[in-house]
Amino acid sequence: MSARLAAVAALAGFALAGVGIAADKAPPAPAMATELKPLSAFQSIADRKTRSLALFAEVGKVIQHPRCLNCHPVGERPTQTDAMRPHMPLVVRGDGGMGATAMRCFTCHHDRNFEPAGVPGNPKWQLAPAEMAWAGKSLGAICEQIKDKQRNGGRDMAALVHHMAEDELVGWGWHPGGKRSPAPGSQAQFGALFKAWADSGAYCPSAG
Ligand code: HEC
Ligand code: HEC
Repeated sequence: MSARLAAVAALAGFALAGVGIAADKAPPAPAMATELKPLSAFQSIADRKTRSLALFAEVGKVIQHPRCLNCHPVGERPTQTDAMRPHMPLVVRGDGGMGATAMRCFTCHHDRNFEPAGVPGNPKWQLAPAEMAWAGKSLGAICEQIKDKQRNGGRDMAALVHHMAEDELVGWGWHPGGKRSPAPGSQAQFGALFKAWADSGAYCPSAG
């Protein structure tokens, strides 16, 4: 390549990179948290709403972790790994989140993690329905959506607390196998923080 051509190519690449940044309106993926603050860290916050918002920011470290977002994508396709790259091979939600007929999730994902191949597993492995999509949304938007019975599988607050604290598919997030980073803290700690948030009025950060 001539020096002039190389310079033109470099300039074009620079311009494209600039466009990429300008066009990218999605909020940056939140930094991956590795721990959760204990419940006691919030008890000193006297104002109820302030406490509630602080608690939701803390549970947000789990909700916006790749272990949850990978299965709660906005599009038809799950994502994979801590980097949340598109699922390989291409699989789609299909009927009831189980995948299209030829590519059922349970063809590859079994009842438990399969370590020799690093394939995660759980008896309930399937894609979250489109109305429960979280990836790329603000924590405030996710919060409103989680509280909305039209979009959360008809759950009231008690059912939501139970799901967060007890559901075994949610629990997989702390035992993901392979090279995946587990969700921060423990499911019990997460469940307790979520319940405290519910008990403090379940305030949502602004959906922004
Ligand atoms: C393997 C895919 C998968 C993973 C991983 C996953 N979910 Fe889900 N999630 C689902 C499916 C499927 C549903 C819908 C089934 C239902 O409503 O019971 C769902 C529903 C939910 C709901 C109820 C609906 C709503 O949006 O309010 C909550 C809450 C939830 N998940 C939390 C989590 C959390 C927290 C994590 C991470 C620790 C997580 N999920 C990881 C598949 C997944
Ligand atoms: C042809 C096999 C195959 C099929 C079918 C398949 N998967 Fe996967 N899936 C994999 C493999 C292999 C990995 C691990 C890739 C890695 O971690 O590098 C994976 C990883 C994932 C992850 C990433 C977990 C994480 O947090 O890193 C999610 C989420 C997922 N699959 C969801 C699904 C869903 C939902 C379906 C059905 C709609 C499905 N998969 C169908 C092979 C498959």
